[in-house]
Amino acid sequence: MGLYVGIDIGTSGTKTILIDGQGKVVAEATAGHPISHPKPMWSEQNPDDWWRAVVQTVQQAVKKSRAKSADIKAIGLSGQMHGAVLLDKNQKLLRPAILWNDQRTAAECKQIEVLSGGKKKLVSMVANPALTGFTAPKILWVRNNEPRKFEKMAHVLLPKDEIRRRLTGDFATDVSDASGTLLLDIKTRIWSKKLLGLLDLDPGLFPKCYESEDVTGRLTRAAATELGLSTDCLVVGGAGDCAAGAIGTGVVESGIVNSSIGTSSVVFVHCDEFRPDPNARLHTFCHAVRNKWHQMGVTLTGGGAMEWFRNELCGDKKASGKRSVYQMLDEEAAAVPAGSEGLFFLPYLAGERTPHADPNARGCMVGLTLSHKRGHIVRSIMEGVTMAMRDSVEIMRDLKIPVQQVRATGGGAASRLWMQMQADIFDSPISTINSSQGAALGVALLAATGAGEFKNVVEACKATVKTVETVRPNKAAVQNYNARFPLFQQLYKSLKQDFQSIAALR
Ligand code: XUL
Repeated sequence: MGLYVGIDIGTSGTKTILIDGQGKVVAEATAGHPISHPKPMWSEQNPDDWWRAVVQTVQQAVKKSRAKSADIKAIGLSGQMHGAVLLDKNQKLLRPAILWNDQRTAAECKQIEVLSGGKKKLVSMVANPALTGFTAPKILWVRNNEPRKFEKMAHVLLPKDEIRRRLTGDFATDVSDASGTLLLDIKTRIWSKKLLGLLDLDPGLFPKCYESEDVTGRLTRAAATELGLSTDCLVVGGAGDCAAGAIGTGVVESGIVNSSIGTSSVVFVHCDEFRPDPNARLHTFCHAVRNKWHQMGVTLTGGGAMEWFRNELCGDKKASGKRSVYQMLDEEAAAVPAGSEGLFFLPYLAGERTPHADPNARGCMVGLTLSHKRGHIVRSIMEGVTMAMRDSVEIMRDLKIPVQQVRATGGGAASRLWMQMQADIFDSPISTINSSQGAALGVALLAATGAGEFKNVVEACKATVKTVETVRPNKAAVQNYNARFPLFQQLYKSLKQDFQSIAALR
């Protein structure tokens, strides 16, 4: 019997699952890790916390499955994208990792544009503009602000690839995650020597780049012993969490879109051809399917806005029986009519990526009255996140990207209310699938493929991922939201200048 491990190193925690050759989950385990915000709009984590969570969850999942170590054939790694893990020549961490939702690099994004010869030239090299969350501006920030650390820098790794290094000793990444560094030539799927040269960055800093289903190495003796696995266990390229989530929902052919609400929210579409958005509004990245691409829009604070609300404003609310605090808040929101009786929420708590590319954007609630209750606030948060995702859906419509089916994952798939809201706000049917494991399942399927269980990852998805239920848009709610959406869009435009002034107060 062959078993395959999928590990997703997310922002709030790590999830590990074990699947069999039919894609059935036989065990799972999760563990949280802390995040620090040393300054407003900064976001950092300690890779040692990820490693602890990986070891703990793998040990727990293996124990629960009662599998023998020899049964576990391969591991797939997924993780939060764009984070910069910086190591010296002795492979020691130089500083905490700077994360995908950190907004400190506005000046470096401008610097990259200038060094590239302008935004157009930059997009012609790497298919995307310089955005604050991407990895390259973080490296330049360290060069500009922590020059001594920069001098010692010998390796730059993405979060999941730092875990790979600790598992196998290899410096390797995969094309989907490497896409988010802004240093990969997305068309040819290799590091862009041209851009590295213009930015004066040594190509030797970056790991070897693989397709997602290819084997990059095997466990070292030390890692195998710590995890309770065998040194024969393979590790495959894996994928950034967005591409991994798409694999886990079977988004491996055109016409299918993944709508995922995790800490961030992502609208993701598979592309057979490399065809970047001429206005670079959507990210154009390599997919975790060999020689395929994807486009996506990213709302930096998605489910993270609900998490913030629960933690900061509902601290005294306790789970009751089997109902979590989220479920209780969801019920309060479901009792409020669509549109939250005139309450709007802009979910830009960590600035915004798509479509505003504005690190200074802020979260706000507009339209509060004395008659609004907590349920209105919760519902407006869910609606605001979903409208921010609709901004990305509208760009896809504008680019005439075919959208035949939307598949939901994450918090948005776990809540009936949020499913219906997505169907109504996107004006599109939306389906759940037979698994809620998202990115962890995606990379477990890549691991199974790498170990020879499937011919390729498309076959793996076809054999294992099925749609279960489809929620259809409600006409009256669609009209209601259509009438409100232009106002949602206008609110950002009206407040844009004020957001800049607020940021300048620092
Ligand atoms: C994608 C992105 C986020 C992180 C979160 O571009 O920044 O979705 O990957 O995990």
